[in-house]
Amino acid sequence: MGVRARITQYYISGQPSPGLQKERMAFCIICTNVLIITPCHPFVCPVLSLRQVEWGGEGGSDMYPYVWLRDNCQCSTCYHPLAASRTTLIPHLDLLTYPHSIQVVDGGNGVEVKWNDGHESAYQASWLHNRAFNETRRKARELEVRLERKYWGSELQHDLPRASFPDLLSSEAAQLDWLRQLEVYGFVQINNVPTEVGQVRRLAEKIAFIRKTHYGEEFTVTTKPDPSNVAYSSGTLQLHTDLPYYEYMPGVQLIHCIVQYEGDGGESQICDAIHVARELQRQHPHLYRALTDTPVDWLDVGIDVGHEFRKMLRLPMICTDNSGEIVRINFSQPQRDSHFSVPVNDVALWYTAMLQYHRLLTHPRYCIQFKMAPGTILSLDNHRMVHGRSSYNSGQGNRHVEGCYMEWDEVRSHRRVLQRKLGSSQHSEI
Ligand code: OGA
Ligand code: ZN
Ligand code: ZN
Repeated sequence: MGVRARITQYYISGQPSPGLQKERMAFCIICTNVLIITPCHPFVCPVLSLRQVEWGGEGGSDMYPYVWLRDNCQCSTCYHPLAASRTTLIPHLDLLTYPHSIQVVDGGNGVEVKWNDGHESAYQASWLHNRAFNETRRKARELEVRLERKYWGSELQHDLPRASFPDLLSSEAAQLDWLRQLEVYGFVQINNVPTEVGQVRRLAEKIAFIRKTHYGEEFTVTTKPDPSNVAYSSGTLQLHTDLPYYEYMPGVQLIHCIVQYEGDGGESQICDAIHVARELQRQHPHLYRALTDTPVDWLDVGIDVGHEFRKMLRLPMICTDNSGEIVRINFSQPQRDSHFSVPVNDVALWYTAMLQYHRLLTHPRYCIQFKMAPGTILSLDNHRMVHGRSSYNSGQGNRHVEGCYMEWDEVRSHRRVLQRKLGSSQHSEI
């Protein structure tokens, strides 16, 4: 459902005079990427300000740079609606474009602009409102792109996000709820799953493509005589993210317990490793920095499903983006290479930091432990959560787990599609 938006008034600031000389141009000190000086409005970008009412109750006015309006003309020459794509050629965009005339039309539901080169554009008020450059609108868009994470510690143990397998197969509303929780908490336990192979594929294919790796599309975790991975033994699987040696590390993991070991052991541990990394940053900033700044060599070599592989990647244990947000955790004791390509004097500090991080990850305040019942699937954000499994005695019965991966690109895409379809998005348009 769109936000009701109506334009009541427009005004123009910093409009360049038609005879603007090139020597008069300079970078705007406000936005630095648009560059106009006019004799009467030095250092002001040319923008069209639209005074608006019924902006979903927000009111006020918003400014739209001319260059942006022209770049996003919705006419059939400039935009292909079926492809939802801009069709203009980049060199044709004139940074100094400005309107000859502007008209509010359709009782305030739109605005028409005639440009200095004679081109005409029409914009709907609601379309403009959705794209306003103010913080509220930008935040609304950001929340469609990705949902905000809620960080958690072991207090979640008694209130684990859950979903029901039959509901997920039959109801898009249940799927949407699941995918939202997965994005927000990084973990959802799915119950009532048949205890036979093939269920992770059934579920994944409702949402996305299965992400194939050198262990296949689905992988089976049982005790194997000549394991290609330590997971295929009955020993302890320490907390880890899967496949840290992949540049495009699978984002979402499904782990289905088909048969559980009945004696002591075979228990699962999970922990929000991004939350714990933030705690490390708060408590020991220099150790945190050692883990964000030191590249680590990740490695997996061997043969599985008939192919030999030699995967190698160099990335820090805690990966951050330009704004310092943590985007990915790489953590795997078996898959960390003995090659460590850092200056020799950096090594001891890195180990100190890694041990402290591990101490926090395994601390009962952050890590939760439970035994998966047969017929349960754990769905995990593999960029955020670490998971593990305690050892069991393979001589005393089987344990059978099946897993597969999906990509966040596909999973988020499906969440957005469902969100629009089921009417829970604020955005009615592209
Ligand atoms: C794995 C894994 C969990 C389990 O194979 O990477 O985490 O319960 N397995 O066996
Ligand atoms: Zn156009
Ligand atoms: Zn694993």
